[in-house]
This record gives sequence, C-alpha cells and structure tokens, in this order.
Amino acid sequence: MAERKPVHITPEELAEQRHYAAMVNAMPDRPASYHVVTYGCQMNAHDSEKLSGMLQDMGMVEAADRKEADFVIFNTCCVRDNAERRALGNVTWLKEVRKTNPKLIIAVCGCMIQQPGMAGKILKQYKFIDLAFGTSNLYKLPELLFNTLKSDRAVVQVEEKDTIAEELPIKRLRNDAAYITIMYGCDNFCSYCIVPYVRGRERSRDMEAILKEARELKASGVKEIMLLGQNVNSYGKGLDGDVSFAKLLRALDDIGIERIRFMTSHPKDLSDELIQAMGECKHVLPQFHLPVQHGNDEVLRRMNRRYTREQYLDKVRKLREAVPGIGLTTDIIVGFPGETEEQFQDTLSIVQEVGYDSAFTFIYSPRKGTVAADMADQIPENVATDRIQRLIAAQEEGQRKAMARFIGMEEEVLVEGLSRRSTKAVSGHGKHGVGVTLPGTEADIGQIVRVKITAMKNNTLVGERID
Ligand code: 5AD
Ligand code: SF4
Repeated sequence: MAERKPVHITPEELAEQRHYAAMVNAMPDRPASYHVVTYGCQMNAHDSEKLSGMLQDMGMVEAADRKEADFVIFNTCCVRDNAERRALGNVTWLKEVRKTNPKLIIAVCGCMIQQPGMAGKILKQYKFIDLAFGTSNLYKLPELLFNTLKSDRAVVQVEEKDTIAEELPIKRLRNDAAYITIMYGCDNFCSYCIVPYVRGRERSRDMEAILKEARELKASGVKEIMLLGQNVNSYGKGLDGDVSFAKLLRALDDIGIERIRFMTSHPKDLSDELIQAMGECKHVLPQFHLPVQHGNDEVLRRMNRRYTREQYLDKVRKLREAVPGIGLTTDIIVGFPGETEEQFQDTLSIVQEVGYDSAFTFIYSPRKGTVAADMADQIPENVATDRIQRLIAAQEEGQRKAMARFIGMEEEVLVEGLSRRSTKAVSGHGKHGVGVTLPGTEADIGQIVRVKITAMKNNTLVGERID
C-alpha cells in the first residue's frame, strides 16, 4: 500500500465551505429541515454532530422524525454485515416518503460508502439516492449539498485521503457530556476488521487543538469528556515532539473538567506510562474499555492482534493494581474462521477470569477485502449462534459477580435522564462506567449526584442519594 500522509484541511478550504454553506442558506428552494440517522460507533455519533452543525449553518432546523425532514442523511457503518443491511433497508423505506414529500433529498455517507467500489454499486442499485460521500469528505457537506441542489443527477464524492479538519461547526447531542476526537483511522489491520480500509491511516490531532477544544467545553459547563479514537493508546504517533496518550491525559487532567473517559484502547499499546497516568490523574475515571476479542493465543495470532492471553491478563492485573476497583469492559468475537470448540472454551474462561462489568459480544462477520474473509474453514451460523449464547450466559454470570463489589460503596453519578421504569427515578453512569438508577427528578439531569449503592437489578445498580 502506498504511503499516505495526513491531509490537514486548511483554514482557506474551510472558509470556502462556509461560503458554500451561505450560498445553500440563500437558496429559496433549499431543504428547510434535516434529520441525521446514525449507525455504528461513537466516532460515527460524533461525525453526525458535525453533520448537524454544518446543516444548521446552512439554515436548516432539525426534524425530530425522518418522515418530516426535507433532507435525510444516513451516516452508515460497515463493521458487520447487519449494520449495512439495516442502513440499506431504512434508505429503501424512505423512498416511499418521497411520494408525499417530492422535495425530499436522501444522502448516504460514512464507512459503508468509503469501501472500495461501494458508492458506485449503491447508486446503481438505489437510484433514488441523491448524494453519497465518504468519511474523508465529511467536511465538504456544504459544497456537496450545493452541487446536489443545482443538479438533477446524483452527486458522489469518495476519496482515499486521510483528512483532519479542525473547527467544523458541531451541534452536540448533550450539554453536560461531549465527545472529542483525538485521533482518526487505524493502522492495526486486525484480520477481521474493515475499519483500517474505510477510516484510513492513523493520524493524531495536534495536542494544542485538543486542549483548546477541552477548555472551551469546560467553559461552556461540560462535566464529562469522552476522548475518541480507534486506538487512543497510540495517540501522538507521527506528531512532532514528546507526545503520548498518557501525556495528553495529564494535560487534559490539569484543565479541571470533572470527568475524562476514552475509547478504544488496543491492549498491545497499553503502556506502563498510561497505567501510571490512570492511577495519578484526578479526573480520569476509573474505567477501561479493553477489547480482548478472543481468549486463545492461536486465534489471537490469526486475528493479528499481536498480544497473547497472558500479556492481556498481565495488563489487566497492572490496571487493577494502579486503579483498585477499576471498571473493565471489552469486545469479543465468536466464530472466527477455524475457531474450534476447544479454542472457544478459552474465550469462556478468560471472561470468567477477568470478570468484566460489561462486554459487547459479536458473531464474526466476513468483510470483503479483509484477510480473514478469505480464510478457510468459516464457521457455520448455527455453531456461531450456539457459541455466542453460551458466551453471553458466561458473561452475565461474571458480570453479576463483578458488579457485586459496588454494593455498599459510594459512587458519583452523572445523571443523564429520567428512568424509563419510574417517574420518580433518574439514571446515569457512575465513575466506574456502570449504569445507576437513583431517586430524582428532571432537575437532576446534567448534575453529578453522590449515592450509596444498595442493590443490583439486571445490568444496572440501584443507589440512594447521600447528599
Ligand atoms: N465481525 C464481527 N465483529 C467485528 N468487530 C470488528 N470487525 C468485526 C467483524 N468482521 C468487532 C470487534 C471490535 C468491535 C468494534 O467490533 O470486536 O472491537
Ligand atoms: Fe479494527 Fe483492530 Fe483497528 Fe480496532 S484496532 S479498529 S479492531 S483494525
């Protein structure tokens, strides 16, 4: 693969986009309202906040329902086949809405579109799509929408560029908690994963730009920031000077935002320096998402994960030593090509050994263009389904045991909303990352409340207020 360098979008290029935004805004027949449909990870959720910010700059207001919007944009995911199928199903359904709103414009963007050859294929098959663009062109939405409104043919733009665009308008989903992207792309090429192909090469934002964004968020009253990247542990690679993720965390800690979290971490890049920073930073929350993917060395090797079970467990031990009681979560894949029952047993046992507070479990989904998709011995669906059910059962048992450590403990909860089950309760997340329900009202939303944990219900904790 040819070497690719990060492409910093210049202030002039961004000014040009703002100019396009103003031109769209002035068009008498432009869409009046928009709706963004998001699939996939936090990175996509944050990209959708940027799409919304740009659309508001163009004078559009958000429609609560996609049926009521003049412009609907699907920000897609392709990490597994079902994410792709769901997106395409919904895009097709929207075609019917156009019969009642002929002005409706349909756009598709994100990872699914960024796959080689995909944009052309989709537009051929789904002729009612007006606009399609990839992850590297997100900042160009004003220009692309302008061209769409001027033309009666579909507009497509997908480039293989590793862009970094600073200072885009962002319409954040929440006032109390905010995402900050610190790095884009991934260079790890785990053999099952499509992400390095659709999100491009790893590139880090300048530390000063991140710190500036964090300071602004603190000034606006944000209580929690979530640092985002496919592999935040390798933050700083390719930047000048002595930078690392641990150093970034320490600098952010000094700003004084109450809560700092991050995801995702690759175990091979989890350094002692970072573990030490986790233990010392006051505002970095005692939680860690550390995808293990599998419990067997041979499968880990074929997944190209570049760590062994023992090395993984060693990092877990060190994390627990540095941050007693730390909340641990993970991602696990079952049914990777060639996975034997014996190897799967190693996944069951690592889940029991670690005791995760929660785990995202997935059936392996072959992704075209990845190394694993061409491996022999793909696992039949019924075998994979049986394994995932056993894994979920093992995880639930481990989770109940792990979460019992919270009973009787004090916890600080950032209240996110009213409880779905009761009108007199609210819910949010504790410092360790576990969901907590507590007595409260709408006035508590966005506040940090101290509670004593009294019980455990399903996957959440129940707390009593102590202030
Ligand atoms: N099939 C199943 N799960 C996958 N993931 C990534 N690629 C695949 C795939 N092809 C999972 C990994 C990753 C999470 C975001 O999605 O567990 O950590
Ligand atoms: Fe995919 Fe592996 Fe990169 Fe995570 S680290 S995004 S699983 S290639």
